[in-house]
Amino acid sequence: MSDRPTGTRNEHDYVPAMGRDRLLPLYDPFTWLVGAPRVHRRLAARAGVVPGHRVLEVGCGTGNLALRVQRLHPGAEVVGLDPDPLALARARRKADRRGSPVRWDRGTAGALPYDDASVDRVLSAFMFHHLDDAEKRRMLAEVGRVLRPGGQLHLVDFGGHHHGVAGRWVHRNEHLRANADDGIADRMREAGLTDIRTGERGRLGVLHVRATRC
Ligand SMILES: C[S@@+](CC[C@H](N)C(=O)[O-])C[C@H]1O[C@@H](n2cnc3c(N)ncnc32)[C@H](O)[C@@H]1O
Repeated sequence: MSDRPTGTRNEHDYVPAMGRDRLLPLYDPFTWLVGAPRVHRRLAARAGVVPGHRVLEVGCGTGNLALRVQRLHPGAEVVGLDPDPLALARARRKADRRGSPVRWDRGTAGALPYDDASVDRVLSAFMFHHLDDAEKRRMLAEVGRVLRPGGQLHLVDFGGHHHGVAGRWVHRNEHLRANADDGIADRMREAGLTDIRTGERGRLGVLHVRATRC
């Protein structure tokens, strides 16, 4: 997970999973070590996916969450979207090895390449802090557009932590600072999403926020 404040310091107009392309091979071992599989497991279990649902993971990176959701819910149609072709290539290779039908699309959160009201669940894990404020707002407006009425967004990110090492990391990074307190829920509300529920802050301030399109 990157602690770069903007996407302009790397070669792309987005912030890749580890901040630099050459570090991408470390992403899976690093996130495994810091406990991402446990967070993914909880998110996949709480998302309320049922057979027939169309599920979109925005910022799917190397595909671990999307693959898990598809494995847990074989009757759902799961799509992973990310702007990073290198991460998508890794996700695709994993899916091929496992015979998983997840579809991988290239695109950005602020311009989702999907029809209005065409998705039942949008999932997002550890990607919101990769976005600047304008892209966060565009993403939430787009999520509201593509979700069917009653559809839900389940987002997990670092939700602001004010103490210790994690606190210092948060305060150094403007994207993370913007998540602090009710930053994520406030932006969801401003985007017109409703019934916003914020879970407990876990280790490193990891927060699960759920919102519904009315
Ligand atoms: C830390 S990774 C998270 C990957 C995955 N969700 C997981 O939990 O392992 C953040 C991802 O967000 C993607 N990302 C960055 N900017 C984005 C944008 N504007 N729209 C969609 N995804 C973006 C990056 O390419 C990266 O793959």
